[in-house]
Amino acid sequence: MLNFNFYNPTYIAFGEGKIADLNNLVPIDARVLVLYGGQSAKIHGTLDKVFSALGQRYVESFGGIEANPSFETLMKAVAQVKERQLDFLLAVGGGSVIDGTKFVAAAIFAQDDPWSILTTFGANVSQAMPYGAVLTLPATGSEMNTGSVITRTATQEKLFFRSEYVFPKFSVLDPTLSYTLPKRQLANGVVDAFTHIAEQYLTYSVNAKVQDRFAESLLLNLIEIGPELLVNPSNYSLQANFMWTATLALNGLIGAGVPQDWATHMIGHEITALHGLDHAQTLAIVLPAMLNERREAKREKLLQYAERVWNIRSGTDAERIDAAIQQTRDFFESLGVKTHLSDYQIDATAIPAILQHLESHGMVQLGEQAEVTIEVSRRVLLAAV
Ligand code: NZQ
Ligand code: ZN
Repeated sequence: MLNFNFYNPTYIAFGEGKIADLNNLVPIDARVLVLYGGQSAKIHGTLDKVFSALGQRYVESFGGIEANPSFETLMKAVAQVKERQLDFLLAVGGGSVIDGTKFVAAAIFAQDDPWSILTTFGANVSQAMPYGAVLTLPATGSEMNTGSVITRTATQEKLFFRSEYVFPKFSVLDPTLSYTLPKRQLANGVVDAFTHIAEQYLTYSVNAKVQDRFAESLLLNLIEIGPELLVNPSNYSLQANFMWTATLALNGLIGAGVPQDWATHMIGHEITALHGLDHAQTLAIVLPAMLNERREAKREKLLQYAERVWNIRSGTDAERIDAAIQQTRDFFESLGVKTHLSDYQIDATAIPAILQHLESHGMVQLGEQAEVTIEVSRRVLLAAV
């Protein structure tokens, strides 16, 4: 029996110039902490627009949140919020800044060691500070979901947590803020959003026609838009379509009531933690190998994907599945995102440590049917070398 429940309270202000809406979206008497990443929001003028929209409110800022945001850095923001008695957070950046802000929002109220938010995958979160986001990089969907992925640098651990308490109150989605993205980040964004859809769609069939066709339309958008975006990053229509596609890829809508996989993501997180690859770079390596390894369990959906997304209509079942996986790999490569560990000088000797990290994090029964054991992960990683 399908469960179609879908709850998402995030208000979306979409379009050019929508940063100005912050004046209505942030409470007038708020004591605000603006959180941002390295330099991009500063250099490209996004922060200035944000400060100007916040007007006379009391505002402090916290910069330096890294890609793959670190627990160590974020705890400094928690200290600032407490010391300065701030009461509203505003994330200005991509997935890392928004994820980091989610962690800060929850960690302020943590009763125990704040790292336990990650080790319990968010189960011990019962309160969070309200926050909003100004998105500068379409990719993760963090701007409209409850997920956050945090890295503990000292132990090379990258773990996620989820909590309904950390939905953003609002997100500003102004596609012009993404015009400055370098090719590498644009390509990463396309691959990440693509894989989010794949992990909710390429499972087993439960005859969920709306979720399936919605997922297929989002995939087709990415296939159409991705290559053009790399050439024309300042095209409003391309960026707007990309931004909304990436948001809808992981805001819970296409995943409502259907089985979900996420094995590729969990293995990818360990690769980033141990080897420093970008999040999407790990997905482009793991996804094709994972689809091939699990081709029997995913058979029906892979055939549907082959036909409806890649228009592959001839050949045996096995040939059509091979072709669909190859098209997926070729698409990632065409964007400049490599699909083998060896492209990053990582060989098979790295695999035991990745498996050991998976095991220590309890990632021993991954996938929509909990059949991705450590042994299956080993085969996937070997095939991905
Ligand atoms: O740090 P700055 O200088 O701001 O530069 C950033 C960063 O180096 C730059 N950037 C962002 N907006 C820009 C820009 N450069 C030029 N112009 C702009 N408009 O891009 C770099 C990467 O930013 P980051 O936020 O790290 O990228 P992304 O949005 O891909 O986020 C990746 C993180 O999100 C997690 C990943 O694991 C990773 O830690 N994820 C979060 C998810 C979620 N919350 O639901 C799901 C995802 O599967 C993913 O795991
Ligand atoms: Zn992802």
